Amino acid sequence: MARITASVYTSHVPAIGAAIDLGKTQEPYWQPLFKGYEFSKQWMKDNKPDVIFLVYNDHATAFSLDMIPTFAIGTAAEFTPADEGFGPRPVPKVIGHPDLASHIAHSVIQQDFDLTIVNKMEVDHGLTVPLSLMCGEPQAWPCPVIPFAVNVVQYPVPSGQRCFNLGQAIRKAVESYDEDLNVHIWGTGGMSHQLQGARAGLINREWDNAWLDQLIANPAACAATPHIDYVREAGSEGVELVMWLIARGAMQDVADSARSVRSRHRFYHVPASNTAVGHLILENS
Ligand code: DHB
Ligand code: FE
Repeated sequence: MARITASVYTSHVPAIGAAIDLGKTQEPYWQPLFKGYEFSKQWMKDNKPDVIFLVYNDHATAFSLDMIPTFAIGTAAEFTPADEGFGPRPVPKVIGHPDLASHIAHSVIQQDFDLTIVNKMEVDHGLTVPLSLMCGEPQAWPCPVIPFAVNVVQYPVPSGQRCFNLGQAIRKAVESYDEDLNVHIWGTGGMSHQLQGARAGLINREWDNAWLDQLIANPAACAATPHIDYVREAGSEGVELVMWLIARGAMQDVADSARSVRSRHRFYHVPASNTAVGHLILENS
């Protein structure tokens, strides 16, 4: 059967993608940020998954106010990097896994989560920047990726609790797939940031790190964090963090308290553009 062996969490700041694409990663401003992902790139090589289930948000790129799916699963054979205004990023196209994605859609919908099925979609920085941070600049991404888009842009957005519960359903779905596949689940976006208005530039290191502590040690309590706390403490775009709870909910200790997870890497850095960058790797031990 397929199984989830690890989860990866990372911010997706578009300026990070631009820094990579323009060859600026060793500049003094960016060097400390990319240093925090050196371990991760090696870890990806040493622990290469067969499939990445990548939870991210679309930023009015594939979707718009015309259509706002709360949860959308990409079932296509491939997904092209989108043009977000400066041309598409020069990164490989994303190869999907239609069979596993369809299986997960079937299972998760039968577990009472309503997903939108997306057979054609371009992917924006929310998905490509995490891949670049974890994989560097390869000719092709190391494995197929199932994009899973969450609406955290236009209210009403899903609660952290619902995301956490959905992660548990995704774990069950993966474990009911017949083929022996090593699956990683990624939760992306965050950490504290507010891009507009009077509080633009808001960074809350203390809150971010306390939230990370709780995400690792007591995810059920973390899932109970209400939206208003994310917005007040971590800024309007800090609410992207609910996506991390989908990945955390899919880890084995949530399903079975006799089992545990191991924190392999943790990194926090300010600033990247106007935001705080957080990163975590958890393995099922
Ligand atoms: C920016 C955009 C994002 O989507 C994000 O999550 C962080 C930063 C930006 O435009 O700087
Ligand atoms: Fe974002």
